[in-house]
Amino acid sequence: MLQIKTIEEYQQAYQKSVEDPEGFWAEQAATFQWKKPWDKVLEWDFKKPDVKWFLGGKLNITENCLDRHLESRGDQAAIIFEPNDPNEKETIYTYKQLHAAVCKTANALKNLGIKKGDRICFYMPMVPELAIGVLACARIGAVHSVVFAGFSAQALADRINDAEAKMVICSDYNNRGKKHIPVKKVVDEAIAMGCDSIETVLVHKNTGDDLNWNADLDKWWHDEVDSQSEHCEAEVMDSEDLLFILYTSGSTGKPKGVVHTCGGYMVYSTFSFLNVFQYQENDIYWCTADIGWITGHTYIVYGPLAAGATSIMFEGVPTYPHAGRFWEICDKYKVNQFYTAPTAIRALMALGDEHVEKYDLSSIKVLGTVGEPINEEAWNWYNEKVGKGNAPIVDTWWQTETGGIMITPIPNVTKLKPCFATNPLPGVQLCLVDPDGNEIEGNDVEGLLCIKFPWPAILRTTYGDHERCRTTYFSMFEDKYFTGDGARRDEDGMYRIIGRVDDVINVSGHRMGTAEVENAINEHPLVIESAVVGYPHEIKGQGIYAYVIISDSVTDNEAFQKEVANVVRTEIGPIAKPDVIQVVSGLPKTRSGKIMRRILRKVASKDISDLGDTSTLLNPEIVDEIISGAGLK
Ligand code: WT7
Repeated sequence: MLQIKTIEEYQQAYQKSVEDPEGFWAEQAATFQWKKPWDKVLEWDFKKPDVKWFLGGKLNITENCLDRHLESRGDQAAIIFEPNDPNEKETIYTYKQLHAAVCKTANALKNLGIKKGDRICFYMPMVPELAIGVLACARIGAVHSVVFAGFSAQALADRINDAEAKMVICSDYNNRGKKHIPVKKVVDEAIAMGCDSIETVLVHKNTGDDLNWNADLDKWWHDEVDSQSEHCEAEVMDSEDLLFILYTSGSTGKPKGVVHTCGGYMVYSTFSFLNVFQYQENDIYWCTADIGWITGHTYIVYGPLAAGATSIMFEGVPTYPHAGRFWEICDKYKVNQFYTAPTAIRALMALGDEHVEKYDLSSIKVLGTVGEPINEEAWNWYNEKVGKGNAPIVDTWWQTETGGIMITPIPNVTKLKPCFATNPLPGVQLCLVDPDGNEIEGNDVEGLLCIKFPWPAILRTTYGDHERCRTTYFSMFEDKYFTGDGARRDEDGMYRIIGRVDDVINVSGHRMGTAEVENAINEHPLVIESAVVGYPHEIKGQGIYAYVIISDSVTDNEAFQKEVANVVRTEIGPIAKPDVIQVVSGLPKTRSGKIMRRILRKVASKDISDLGDTSTLLNPEIVDEIISGAGLK
């Protein structure tokens, strides 16, 4: 597979990918193991949308991630598992061992009645069995839907039901930092809310503490898996068969299940991994994301394994048992590529340089960031303190829907610019448009970020609701995929992501719909209406600011705030907890009844110098009340 090494190669590859996309991607795809070659490279129509890559091709992604490496690198570490507790020994899975574990698990799933096309939901901490389970699904053609284990029982139940999953795979408990988290208890609660499609709960014994056991549904992972054969024929999958569903938030209330398929996703995840991280034979690569998010899917599991890399999987948190844990792990394994989120960088930066200075980080060749814009201060700190000025930083812009990295520097090949994601990868045809959909040409311009041509890992649909996929991404501008982000193209044609232009906020790199948080807050019996906006937050990037109207006065404001936070925790999970809750008597509304969020955002950001035109408001007097209620006057 092409690994770009010079600027000329980048330019040539990019040009070829635009002039002859089918030829370009066919060359990349040919480096994989196919059970049957494709008949046609691409068919597409963004109007429907209908995108198909490598039509008629048959493959199994796990053969490419595992079997094909057995001869050449069977004894090389595929996954190095670093536990939460640094005094516990790491677990290493070589490619041979991982292959065996995946086959055994796949056989166990089949034995439990799972067939090709069935959906399996994962609710697990960052343990090797999560990666193994996901690959076991792919082995037999079951569709995995991993739900981040920080989500609440309600959020889990919603996702199980939307996908009509037949099985949930979970752990008993999870030790994360100092916390001891009852994981299966959340699954039990979700099922008690009504998940009729669930036939089995497969429980991985992680800590071994006492559990409630439901003999009708529950089965132990070890009872089902340990006795299975290490051989499992890989299911023949069509390029366009579903590989996984991953739920993500949008500007409307209900999260949607983004669907990725086998062929294109495999090609694009591997291509982007090899090029963005410039992974070389024997390198040790570490992505700190959770497999509950797309970053973990593409850059812990599929991309690195398909590329035959050694990938670290970390169970814990950056600050446990001390603020140098990330750097201690980099030193311990002599990590060569390190990929994390700006929010983690900012949090660690705030804890002092001494934690990073203690460790030998000279092995690091490439540093990556993902998930949110990185501010200049954090970029410089990362560059100087972690990279010692020697490791290019790849600020990678992409989305759950794009499946893989889209805009990024290529280390030691293309130019870097702090806070800029810079340039598109080959195959990515970007454009900026104005609100009317006119393409904005030239440089030194700003607009809405769209993509004009399909790339192999583009989402194919939103599960169970294709029309929603069309309206969300493909109906805004004709024949373009709309990202939801605004971006700037500078004098040199480099891209800087400004942020979401829809009602989506990004809190510590976690994507959230404001409507989703509002719906949760509205579950509180006293709340009549609420409006949620993001505001700049030093560590989280964005914080959550909630304005609420209540039906009665509250005597104990502190208790009320806690109750609201708890409702959100129950409905969504702790990541969606508001940072600020302001009780108001009304919300600024236009005559058509639309909340003027611009004003709410300004107040939340403590920037009321220019509130813009408020003359169209039905209730302009409310603005002053909100401003003084926020303590700004
Ligand atoms: C949204 C997608 C892609 C994996 C993690 C997030 C924001 C993502 C960057 C970046 C500025 C970024 C965008 C995007 N975003 N990467 N490098 N610079 N913003 O995936 O949860 O689907 O969120 O995250 O706003 O639309 P996601």
